[in-house]
Amino acid sequence: MLKGRATADGTAEYAKRFPAMPGNFRPMLGVSVSSIGIGTYLGEPDEETDRAYEEALTAALTGGINLIDTAVNYRFQRSERTIGKVVAELVAAGKLKREEFIVATKGGYVTFDGGVPENPRAWFEDHFVKSGIVAPGDLMDGSHCMTPKYIGTMLDLSRANLGLDTIDLYYLHNPETQLEVVERKEFLRRISQIFDFLEGAVVAGKIGVYGVATWNGLRAQPTERGWLSLDELIRIARDVGGDSHHFRAIQLPHNLAMPEAVIRPNQLVGSRKITTLAAAKPLGLAVCASASLLQGQLSRGLPAIVSDAMSGLATDAQRSIQFVRSTPGVDVALVGMKSAEHVRDALATAAKPPATVEEFMRLFKGPDEP
Ligand SMILES: NC(=O)c1ccc[n+]([C@@H]2O[C@H](COP(=O)([O-])OP(=O)(O)OC[C@H]3O[C@@H](n4cnc5c(N)ncnc54)[C@H](OP(=O)(O)O)[C@@H]3O)[C@@H](O)[C@H]2O)c1
Repeated sequence: MLKGRATADGTAEYAKRFPAMPGNFRPMLGVSVSSIGIGTYLGEPDEETDRAYEEALTAALTGGINLIDTAVNYRFQRSERTIGKVVAELVAAGKLKREEFIVATKGGYVTFDGGVPENPRAWFEDHFVKSGIVAPGDLMDGSHCMTPKYIGTMLDLSRANLGLDTIDLYYLHNPETQLEVVERKEFLRRISQIFDFLEGAVVAGKIGVYGVATWNGLRAQPTERGWLSLDELIRIARDVGGDSHHFRAIQLPHNLAMPEAVIRPNQLVGSRKITTLAAAKPLGLAVCASASLLQGQLSRGLPAIVSDAMSGLATDAQRSIQFVRSTPGVDVALVGMKSAEHVRDALATAAKPPATVEEFMRLFKGPDEP
């Protein structure tokens, strides 16, 4: 297990190694983080994809990307294990220090072990129910579990897979899934239990900070069942962890086709209705944007208005990534990459300064507006 975690000094030293990327590194959670992070969600659970991710992760970490995003269930633990292998090798070879990079992972979904077993139901019974990790009734929507016992087991599994003593950022994965099944009051009780558990995990040195990684929850309207309120979540964090609680990050999809984070005023903070991005910073929350390319769909065929606004870039993929990393309030644009060639594309984007607010706003103006 690698000891330690990303530090202010370590990540600042890392940033200094890439002087040709002046606009790439930003302050986030007390460290310097690259404006693009490498995601590890997509791909088959097989060895060929493991090898591809090894190459892509190596290119990213040695090229100027120091945030990796994963989850215990991505490719049935294979993504975490591949990350663990790559960072251990780079550190052993003296090419990377533990203090220089940030790893974020997630727990909440049930996962198999490397691939789908012959009899998934029996496998689940044997591994989770008989061992008492999941009690009957704990499983929501057939795949999601949010009890301290389950999350604690997943956290230790992630630490082992990643070979990291401390995970820099630990997310509760798509907690809004539970709102489809339980009432809001019960949901908030469960969140409180988990936040309390995660505050303990910080004290135990297993994680640095924690957050929620979401799909619909932070883009939904308050009238929708699966809506997440940042105000409610922060109140719970303060209740269990005091003013210096460690609920410090959110993740939500944000891209040219899903811009709700920056245009939909769906958060109620005090008496004001503001967007999730506007709400996050004053509440002390870092923001990582997922699905920057809408799972690859925004890598081609963009209209001319985008190339006008996100100028100086060679490809539509780069323009889409530029949109996300330039969005005011977004700290990191997560891009799923299992191809080293795509990592090089992302690094070429990171070498450019982010778009200015004026350039960014061109996308939101009507054709006749000045
Ligand atoms: N609810 C959640 O917590 C949640 C949900 C979704 C995503 N995420 C996180 O966010 C990350 C990013 O989202 P995502 O992976 O779903 O989708 P994405 O980043 O929008 O798109 C990834 C896809 O785009 C392709 N791609 C990457 N760079 C490219 C380039 N320069 N040109 C052309 N194609 C390119 C990738 O191909 P290759 O793989 O072949 O390189 C991959 O197929 C995930 O990996 C995950 O870590 C979290």
